[in-house]
Amino acid sequence: AAPALAATPPMGWNSWNHYGCQIDEELIRRTADALAAKGLRDAGYVYVNIDDCWQGERDANGNIQPDPKRFPSGMKALGDYLHARGFKFGIYSDTGEKTCAGRPGSQGHEFQDAAQYARWGVDYVKYDWCNTGKDEWQRNSREGYRTMQRAIAASGRAMILSICEWGETKPWLWAAKVGQLWRTTGDITNCWDCVLGHGDWHSNGIMRIVDINEPLRAYAGPGHWNDPDMMEVGNMATLAEDRSHFALWAMMAAPLIMGTHVDTMKPEVAAILTNRRVIAVDQDARGVQGLRWFDNGATQVWAKPLAGGDWAVALVNRSDRPAKTGIDWASTPLEDTLNGLFVDFAEQTYGLTDLWTGKSTGTTETPLSVTLAPHDTAIYRLSPRR
Ligand code: DGJ
Repeated sequence: AAPALAATPPMGWNSWNHYGCQIDEELIRRTADALAAKGLRDAGYVYVNIDDCWQGERDANGNIQPDPKRFPSGMKALGDYLHARGFKFGIYSDTGEKTCAGRPGSQGHEFQDAAQYARWGVDYVKYDWCNTGKDEWQRNSREGYRTMQRAIAASGRAMILSICEWGETKPWLWAAKVGQLWRTTGDITNCWDCVLGHGDWHSNGIMRIVDINEPLRAYAGPGHWNDPDMMEVGNMATLAEDRSHFALWAMMAAPLIMGTHVDTMKPEVAAILTNRRVIAVDQDARGVQGLRWFDNGATQVWAKPLAGGDWAVALVNRSDRPAKTGIDWASTPLEDTLNGLFVDFAEQTYGLTDLWTGKSTGTTETPLSVTLAPHDTAIYRLSPRR
């Protein structure tokens, strides 16, 4: 049997968050080279995904072609370039007749497009939701995405289907049987706690996205993930925000799709993104989306059960001031009702590892006390002492 697609949350890079429509084949090759050179590919970031604006026109037979100025070598050659270096190739289209940026969408061409992607060696299709009608003309989302799912199946090539309809028609209720991940929110933006208005739509800062995605944890699991959007790690105002963003995406078992400039990435950002211990929290085989254990407003504590009886615990400072926080383990049992899990730290001791440094930092026999910089996060792995 073929291995399950996205048994753990997909990891890779996507052009949109940093480059928008300013993309071409040279950028894609340069980014892939940098992902390899900086150790990101070997840390797991294997999908190289081209977002909106790669498309040119359809040919006389209706086959979609890349923009000839931006992708003169063609998509098969680009896919070959990526595969030869150990990457997988991702592409983007839209359920409507046009993409959000006004390029040709796949409506009415779904089977033809999936067949073309298969010829190009595509491994991942992000499928957007712009220009799908309004009011009584609005397309049915489940039907639209199932059509592309059937088209991919008919193409004979395994491809991840990334459902990008922003949570509008509650994809968590229907998309697990259609694709491997679904967006739960509108677009992310590289600010901490803001909401930016753009006429009739808005984009969300990191913590707003977290607030929307967290209550949906019951719907996520191996092969079917909530997608709180591609990461802004590397694009945030401070390294503390980059760290918190990364830790929270790992705690939420979110897809780890980078959205920054890789060739000119700061070493400190690469160090965050390649932290194997935090990546292991995201990629844990148990596949449980973590829960917000406490929310004190200024600070919050997250917990995620891991395979083999370990837990990840993260303490987040949402506020703009330094914050002293902690956990008095013995008097604070940890409960994940969704998974029937209960830990009484008075009965069972766990050893702590600081996941940023990799250092052991005591046990749950002693209360944890940390001081966090504004918007920073501490993250630990708890392993039972026997
Ligand atoms: C809307 C999506 O949510 C974004 O991630 C991006 O794909 C843009 N469309 C591209 O136009």
